[in-house]
Amino acid sequence: MGYIMVKEIFLDEQYTDAEMYNRLNTEVNVNEIHTIIREDTDCYNIHGELLFRFRKKKLSSGEIDDYYDAIYSFTNSNPSCNRGTANGDKIKSIHTNKKVYSSIMGYYDKFSPKLKYFFTKMKVKPLIGLLECRFTREYPEKMLKAIPLLTSIHNLYEELVPDKFTLQNQKAHETEFTIGNTCFTTATTNINFQTRVHLDKGDCPEGFGNLAVIERGTYNGGETCLPQYGVGVDVRQGDILFVDVHKHHGNLPVYDTSEGYKRMSVVAYLRNDVWKHSKGQKLNIVLSKLANFEEKRKLFYQNGKVAT
Ligand SMILES: [Fe+2]
Repeated sequence: MGYIMVKEIFLDEQYTDAEMYNRLNTEVNVNEIHTIIREDTDCYNIHGELLFRFRKKKLSSGEIDDYYDAIYSFTNSNPSCNRGTANGDKIKSIHTNKKVYSSIMGYYDKFSPKLKYFFTKMKVKPLIGLLECRFTREYPEKMLKAIPLLTSIHNLYEELVPDKFTLQNQKAHETEFTIGNTCFTTATTNINFQTRVHLDKGDCPEGFGNLAVIERGTYNGGETCLPQYGVGVDVRQGDILFVDVHKHHGNLPVYDTSEGYKRMSVVAYLRNDVWKHSKGQKLNIVLSKLANFEEKRKLFYQNGKVAT
């Protein structure tokens, strides 16, 4: 049986943690990225900690196309204004933040500004800090089309980063609020979103991040970078990147774009607070309570008030 060696690289820090803290919310600069990875690679820091594992052409085009078809129009018609530092806005306000094309599926634990407004007006709140994402609730058949790609990412996670996977998967088994049988509660889809330097928050601290990209049209650039280590990964359609998203990361700009090009990025994760709030809860019971709540919310927006 053959054994294929994967390229291994060990990188030193070119900025301290304190320097990186000051870089939060700034753009990744092409001059600070000395290495761009385009082939199967395992990357560690000089302490031997895994920074990322990258594998080319691991995801099937059928699952990729199904995912794209399921989520594209929803994401593109729902610009999100609430992405914190990933798009460079320090002040969270629905009025001033730049719109980015971003959507979530699965389950969530934070309420949107619009929903908070409803709570204040109605003096209500769901009993439990959990929400079913609108895409999952309103488009169940599209949700089913998105699950196979996320299941493949789950399987690759188990194969490529088994220690972190096991810790996350144990948590996933303690909640019914997962996407299919994966260890993910939530998946974020972004379109043409050049993230600034940021740290992921809200995901499972014991876990590892992942990223898949779906392309339409052509472009260059857009690499996912760890500027502290001067490295970027050119994640292309079909590739999978498992990366330490608790290290500062962000994207380089894209260039040479064809008209109407799309770079859709897919990130699936376990939201720690979804796990915390849903442990021991029955999914169907919580969903029926939320549905009742959602009904009230719809009436509120239709009539400006709710009959009690
Ligand atoms: Fe991120």
